[in-house]
Amino acid sequence: MKIIHISAECYPIAKVGGLADVVGALPKYQNRGEITSQVIMPFYNNRYTQEHRFKSIYKGTLNLGTESFKFKILILENENLGFELYLVDIPELLFTDYVYSENDTKRFISFQIAALDWILQNKQLPDIIHCHDHHTGLISFLMSHANKYKKLKDTPSVFTIHNAQYQGWFSHDNIELIPSFPLSHIGLLDWDNNINPLATAIKCSWRVTTVSPSYMEELKVKANGLESLINSETQKCVGILNGIDTKVWDPELDDMIEAKYGFEDCDSGKHVSKIWLCEEFGLNSEKPLFVFIGRLVEEKGADLFYEVFDKALKNLDISILLLGSGNKMVEQQMKKLTSKYPKMYNAFIGYDEALSHKMYAGADYLLMPSRVEPCGLNQMYSLRYGTIPIVNKIGGLKDTVVDISEGGFGFLHTENTVKGIFNSIKRATQFYSDSSKIKETRKTIMQIDHSWDESAQQYINLYKSLNQYS
Ligand code: ADP
Ligand code: GLC
Repeated sequence: MKIIHISAECYPIAKVGGLADVVGALPKYQNRGEITSQVIMPFYNNRYTQEHRFKSIYKGTLNLGTESFKFKILILENENLGFELYLVDIPELLFTDYVYSENDTKRFISFQIAALDWILQNKQLPDIIHCHDHHTGLISFLMSHANKYKKLKDTPSVFTIHNAQYQGWFSHDNIELIPSFPLSHIGLLDWDNNINPLATAIKCSWRVTTVSPSYMEELKVKANGLESLINSETQKCVGILNGIDTKVWDPELDDMIEAKYGFEDCDSGKHVSKIWLCEEFGLNSEKPLFVFIGRLVEEKGADLFYEVFDKALKNLDISILLLGSGNKMVEQQMKKLTSKYPKMYNAFIGYDEALSHKMYAGADYLLMPSRVEPCGLNQMYSLRYGTIPIVNKIGGLKDTVVDISEGGFGFLHTENTVKGIFNSIKRATQFYSDSSKIKETRKTIMQIDHSWDESAQQYINLYKSLNQYS
């Protein structure tokens, strides 16, 4: 069975967030036995693409309204990612040093057309086309309704919603960018008088998945305007919890951390990384170290950080270290706190993959007070590195963290306010004073199995259930 994943991001080639981690790992875990799983993504201009070799395997021309663009399909050479990687090279639109921009409607429609044009001319069609997030939301519509892709009509499509907050909508004025289709089908593209790729994918894909069971339930009542659509399509929707790539995220093998460690020697191993972090960022390593790693956006609760951190640093004997970027006002606030609480707080505003690994390893606690968290990978990485998560009880966080008071290993709050988050930090600070409990908890969480094995199999079962009807 041949599966092709279509995505805007894929680790290690281009990563903005967890979408890349998932698309860079899931195919690797699916590629066993009778399953061949591949990925196609845009060819961006970044360090990875500059440092690796690619071979052109197909050339084509695509039309976007009145403009036409030449494109190539490239294949990654001399590198074993665990799956075959194809890239869509459209120099004028996709070969940029960023993944997302203002011009995304045109960029990602061109990506989708080029990917389908190439798939269509292959001798062997895929058995399943698996699309991820709104950047690939028009594919299932095009496969079922666009005149030129009729041959793909019977190929089952699966669509995974990684985050329903982002839907990629654009005005009907841009309809000419979409390859021709019978106009009677235009309703499938529309939601609230706009063309909405996420809504289109939910309507047209054979199956829709989300990245955790709880998020699937939450979408029925809160989906940034798509609630009624989710409810009407609920029969074909299922929540499958993401896994983590335990080959990339393994403190016993991780070259990015200061000292490798397993669950047996986690205290000493974590201590080396904590000392490094505290020296690097001028913090006191005697105190419990709380970290945040992620996008500084409202979804992650970032607008509450200034008040929460201020209150926590004023009232508790702790250190806080933040790694992230996003909302400019929040970035300013996060920098401002460094002068208010020297030696207790620091922030690295930006993106740094290696530093994130060092923080998962060296921290005592990971903060994730997200308002929306479809799955969340950070809490699973932190568990694997023996770092105790402090999370809001929603989405994938609810599915992966159990509170210490219920015999679990983390701290959950249901009131995601300054007070609610502060109380969790306070509980965690008290817990830190019992070193034997901390040690025991670290050992327990490092042994929780969140690898992709089980979830990758759930996707395969889903593909098989569709394939018998194609
Ligand atoms: P989301 O995709 O919503 O941002 P996830 O928890 O699914 O959230 O995944 C976030 C991923 O991005 C994780 O791999 C996390 O370590 C990484 N990440 C986020 N921000 C940064 C940053 N500033 N520097 C390094 N890695 C980051
Ligand atoms: C999205 C979600 C995040 C999830 C990730 C991978 O970015 O915000 O919760 O973990 O996708 O599925």
